[in-house]
Amino acid sequence: MALSIPKHITEYKLAKDLFTRGSDIILSDRGQQMKQFTQHGTTSVFEHCVSVAKYSLLFSYFLEKTLRIKCDKTSLVRGALLHDYFLYDWHESDPSHRLHGFTHPYAALKNASADFKLNDIEKDIICKHMFPLTPFLPRFRESVIICLADKWCALCETFKVDISSYLIYRVNYRIALATGELTITKEPEMACES
Ligand SMILES: [Fe+2]
Ligand SMILES: [Fe+2]
Repeated sequence: MALSIPKHITEYKLAKDLFTRGSDIILSDRGQQMKQFTQHGTTSVFEHCVSVAKYSLLFSYFLEKTLRIKCDKTSLVRGALLHDYFLYDWHESDPSHRLHGFTHPYAALKNASADFKLNDIEKDIICKHMFPLTPFLPRFRESVIICLADKWCALCETFKVDISSYLIYRVNYRIALATGELTITKEPEMACES
């Protein structure tokens, strides 16, 4: 079956959708703290999570359009933004980071539960996103989507393939507007996106 993503879904609209559903996470102090930690290659944990949210949303649009399979998009975005909310630099040599691949979903869940009210789908997304490295099967279709999007993004980031820089620029633009760093009231759409 040919990939059928609606034409109106542009990076601009994806950034808007993502920001609307997860602005409390994106704007929080600890959400912004994820920018300080490197995930894969030169990509920060924050950029990685935004990228996973983007591809999860795209995949959910595809499922809805082609197979009429609906997803809880808000849980999908929030789970993506929080799936690596472990808040430390796993590249630093520290005995506690040795099993990072296996343990960070639980560290992320602990931090996310302390800072935000999570539903069952979001908890499952965070906890199971490393499947099959962690041997617990994802329970919801949203968790499966994040599992796949996470691996796709990790692969591209490791091999320095640019898959999300424009979306990240749009999200940072919205952060600057929301925090008052930028004072214009209407975000200009790109001519090619109108
Ligand atoms: Fe992870
Ligand atoms: Fe991840």
